[in-house]
Amino acid sequence: MELALALDLPSKEANLALLSKLREYPIWVKVGLRSFIRDGKGFLDEVKSINPNFKIFLDLKLYDIPNTMKTAAQECKDLGVDMITIHASSGIEAMREVMSVAQDSLLVFAVTALTSFDDAGFMPIYNAPIHSHAKTLALLAQEGGCHGIVCSPLESLEIKTSTSLKTLTPGIRFEQNASGDQKRIATPRDAKKAQADYIVVGRPIYEAQSPQEVVSQILEEIL
Ligand code: C5P
Repeated sequence: MELALALDLPSKEANLALLSKLREYPIWVKVGLRSFIRDGKGFLDEVKSINPNFKIFLDLKLYDIPNTMKTAAQECKDLGVDMITIHASSGIEAMREVMSVAQDSLLVFAVTALTSFDDAGFMPIYNAPIHSHAKTLALLAQEGGCHGIVCSPLESLEIKTSTSLKTLTPGIRFEQNASGDQKRIATPRDAKKAQADYIVVGRPIYEAQSPQEVVSQILEEIL
């Protein structure tokens, strides 16, 4: 199981300062909407200059028509990142187009249900409970050829046992952490029990007094 750090801080300098403190740790670096929109491609190079071994996960959650998804995936691949996210609900044709570009050199994970949803928020949009719909979307992602899916640790085990997909789970919190906007949460240890292959952690690390201590604690729990 691997740890991806979400770099969601308010400035590039703050993200890079955090990463400098964590340069020795075997972590993935997740660049999401906030930092990529603000800091662009150059930021990816700056991340690599801190530690060239950092793997980069570009979390832009692509959702569009198949041709746009395919060409956007090609642009991501050309950036040299290691992993991207798309939405499984973009459909099988879009996923297949993305995979025709990604093949085995770019990991593609399809989002099922965002971890910020609970059933009350999910139902009016998808007209299904999260649990069953996440599995339906996971099966679709498998048919579309994706390498894995994004789900909460609460859905991971069932998806792992009913598909051959890898799972990546955000919504990670220790007991003492505030959940914030995340509704379907679990500890790193529980995510491991749910056979998650990757966990994504942001606020519990970057809001801590000592991000190094939190990363060490997480790695102890999951490795
Ligand atoms: O701060 P926190 O640990 O909640 O950060 C979780 C990160 O994972 C954020 O960057 C968020 O965009 C991302 N994410 C998520 N739920 C998903 C996919 C990605 O929370 N389904």
